[in-house]
Amino acid sequence: MDKTSQDNSSAVGVEISEGQCRMTLDNPPVNVIGHQVRQGLDAAVRAAEDARADKVIVTGAGKAFAAGADAKEFDQPARPPHLPGVLARLEQLPAIAALNGMALGGGLEIALACRIRIAAPGCRLGLPEVTLGVVPGAGGTQRLPRLIGIEAAAKLISEGARITAEEALDLGLIDAIADDPVEAAKSVSLDTLQARQPALDRPAPAPNPNAIKAARDKAHKRARGQIAPQAALDLIEATAHTPPAQGLENERAQFLDLRQGPQAKALRHVFFAERAAAARSNGFEAAPKSLSSAVVVGGGTMGAGIAYALDSIGVTTTLVEVDTAAAERARTNIDKLFDEGVKRGKSTPEEAKAGKSRIAVRTGYKALPPVDIAIEAVFEEIQVKRAVFAALDAALPCETILATNTSYLDVNRIFEGIRAPERCLGLHFFSPAHVMKLVEIIRTNNTSQTTLASAFALAARLRKVPVEAGVCDGFIGNRILTAYRQVCDIMLLDGAMPWQVDSAMVAFGMAMGPYAVQDLSGLDIAYANRQRKTLRDTQDARHVPIADRMVEDLGRLGRKTGAGWYDYTDDGARPSTQVAELVETASKEAGCQRRAFTDDEIVARATTAMICESLHILHEGIARRPADIDLVLVHGYGFPRWRGGIMHHADRIGFEEVRDRVRRYAQDDPLSWRLPPDLEQRVAQGQALADLNQEKTE
Ligand code: NAI
Repeated sequence: MDKTSQDNSSAVGVEISEGQCRMTLDNPPVNVIGHQVRQGLDAAVRAAEDARADKVIVTGAGKAFAAGADAKEFDQPARPPHLPGVLARLEQLPAIAALNGMALGGGLEIALACRIRIAAPGCRLGLPEVTLGVVPGAGGTQRLPRLIGIEAAAKLISEGARITAEEALDLGLIDAIADDPVEAAKSVSLDTLQARQPALDRPAPAPNPNAIKAARDKAHKRARGQIAPQAALDLIEATAHTPPAQGLENERAQFLDLRQGPQAKALRHVFFAERAAAARSNGFEAAPKSLSSAVVVGGGTMGAGIAYALDSIGVTTTLVEVDTAAAERARTNIDKLFDEGVKRGKSTPEEAKAGKSRIAVRTGYKALPPVDIAIEAVFEEIQVKRAVFAALDAALPCETILATNTSYLDVNRIFEGIRAPERCLGLHFFSPAHVMKLVEIIRTNNTSQTTLASAFALAARLRKVPVEAGVCDGFIGNRILTAYRQVCDIMLLDGAMPWQVDSAMVAFGMAMGPYAVQDLSGLDIAYANRQRKTLRDTQDARHVPIADRMVEDLGRLGRKTGAGWYDYTDDGARPSTQVAELVETASKEAGCQRRAFTDDEIVARATTAMICESLHILHEGIARRPADIDLVLVHGYGFPRWRGGIMHHADRIGFEEVRDRVRRYAQDDPLSWRLPPDLEQRVAQGQALADLNQEKTE
C-alpha cells in the first residue's frame, strides 16, 4: 500500500494492492473538484494504468463522494489537467464508483466514467450545473443519455434536480445500493466488471423529440430567460445522432463559453452571496443563543405562516390572538397550512394532526410560557404594535428576544420604553412566510450582537436567506419597491399603460409585472400605506393619483374584487378599458403630453430607479453591502436570479451609463430624477459595486 508522495497527493489518496487500486477523493468538507483534485485524480489514474490494475474503486473521504466543480475557479481561465481528459482515461480502466455520499456535478461525471456505480442509501445524485448557468462540462450530457435514455437525462440535467439513490437505481443510473459501497465494490467479480462497457461505447440513445420538447417547455417556464437549460437540451438531443467524440467536444466548448458569460457570472454571484448569508451567524462578536421556544402574536396571514415554520424546525410555539373569534380564525389559518402540507406530500395526515395540536393558540398574555423569542405579526399600526410589546415586556423574562414583523414602521419607535432594548429587532418575513426564503433582519439603535447572531442562526435553521438592514421606511426591499412603483406610475402619466409596463418587466425577467403583483396582493394594502405616509402631500415627488382613485372611486382592489389594474374573468386577466380611461384622464389633469414608450425605455427607467434607491440605501448604511440588496430583490421581489440582482445588474450597465441616464431623464422631470450620492465619485474612480462586496465578505 502506498499513498503517492507528490505534492497534490492530499487531494486524492491512492492505494494499490494485489492488482486493485483504490482512489479516494479527499478535499474536505465535500470533496469539491478544484485544480488539486484534478491533478490528484490525474496522478491516480496514471498510477492505476502503470500498475495495470484489474479493478479500480473510486470513492470519497468523509460524508460526500464529490459535491461538484469548485465554482470559485470559474472566474479564472481553466487550468490543466482538465476533467474531460482525465475521465476519458478513467473510462478505459475497469473502474467502479463507490458513492459514499452526494455525487453532484463533476462528482457524478466521475461516476459516469466508471463502469459500475454503487451508492450508499442516503446518497444524492444530480447534475445541477444549469443552476449555475453552465452545462455539465465533463461528459455528463453525453454519458447520461447513453445510460438512462434521452427522456430521463433531459429531465435530470435541464432541471438541475437532485435525486435519491432509490430513484437513481430505478432509472438505471446506478447499479446497486449498499450500506458500504466500497465493500460492495470489492466483492464485484472481475468477470462482471470486464463484461461492462464504458458508457460512451454503448449504442446511441433513441431519439425522443417529444421528451426534448416537453423539457424545453418546462425549462422556459421554470427558468424563463436562462440559456443553460436549453443549451444542455441541445447537447442531449444530439446524442442520438452525434458520435461521442464530437458530442464531448461540443459539450466542452459550450461549457467554457457559458462559464464566462453574463448569466453564469450572475448566478455564481447570487450563489456565493447566499452562502455568505447562511454563514453570517458565525461572523458576530457574540455567539448566537439557541432558540427552542417561541410566542407569535397575531395569527393572520403572516403570524400563522411564521408559527407553522417555527414548529416545522422543532421550536415549541404558542400563538396569541386578541379575542376568541380571532383565535378561532388563527386556528383555522394554521390548520390550513398543515393540510396543505399533506397535499404537497410534505407530511402525513398523522404528522399534520400532531403538528396542529403542538401549536397552542390562546388569547391574552396571562401565564405565557417563558419563551426564548416572541415575534409580533399584528396589524401594521404603530400604536397596536407598541401595546403588544408593552404586554410582552411585562409577561416575559427580559432575556426573551422581541421581534416585530413590521413591513415599514419605525422599529426604534415600536420598541421605545421596552426593558433591555438590546434584545429587540425586526424580523421581516415575506408572504407566505413558510415558503418565501427572504428574511430582513432589522437592527435598531440598540440591538446587540448576540440578538443579531441569534436571529441569523434562527433564519439559517429555517433555511431562509437572512439579510441585515437598518431602520428606515420599508427597509431594503419595500423601499426599493416604492421607488420602482413610483417610476412606473410616472410612466403611466407620461404615456405608458400598466399592461405595457408589466409585459416589459416580465420580458426583462421579473417574475411578475408591478401591476399584476399589486392586483395579487390587493390595492388596499398599498393604499393604506400611502395614507399613512401621506405621500400625496410630499413636495419632493410627483403625485400620481391613479392607484388612489382605483380604490376610492372605483373599488378596484385587485383579484379579490375581480377587478384591479386588470379585469379578471374565468379566462384570466385582461387589460381594463376603465383603467385605460382613468390613466388617460389622470394624464390630462396633470397636464402631461402622453407619448410612446418602448419596452427598452420602460426597463431602463424602472431599473435605473431601483439602482438609484439602492445607492441611497448603501450610502445611508441601511444595507451592509451591495450583494445583500441583490439577495433581497432576488428572494423577495421576483428579480431574475440570472441577472444577479439589481446591484450586479448596475455593474453590468456601468455607473457612467447610470449617471447619464439619470441626467437625461432629469432634463424633463427634475423632481423624479436626481443623482444619488456618491455616483459622480464612483464614476470618477471607476469603482464597481462588486468591489464593495469583497471588502465586507466575512
Ligand atoms: P393580518 O391582518 O392577516 O393579521 C393580523 C392579525 O393580528 C389578525 O389575526 C389580528 O386578529 C391580529 N391582531 C391584531 N391586533 C392584535 C393584538 N393586539 N394582539 C394579538 N393579535 C392581534 O395581517 P398580516 O398580513 O399577517 O400582517 C401582519 C404584519 O406583518 C403587519 O405588520 C404587516 O405589515 C406585516 N407583513 C405582512 C406581509 C404580507 O404580505 N401580508 C408581508 C410582510 C410583513
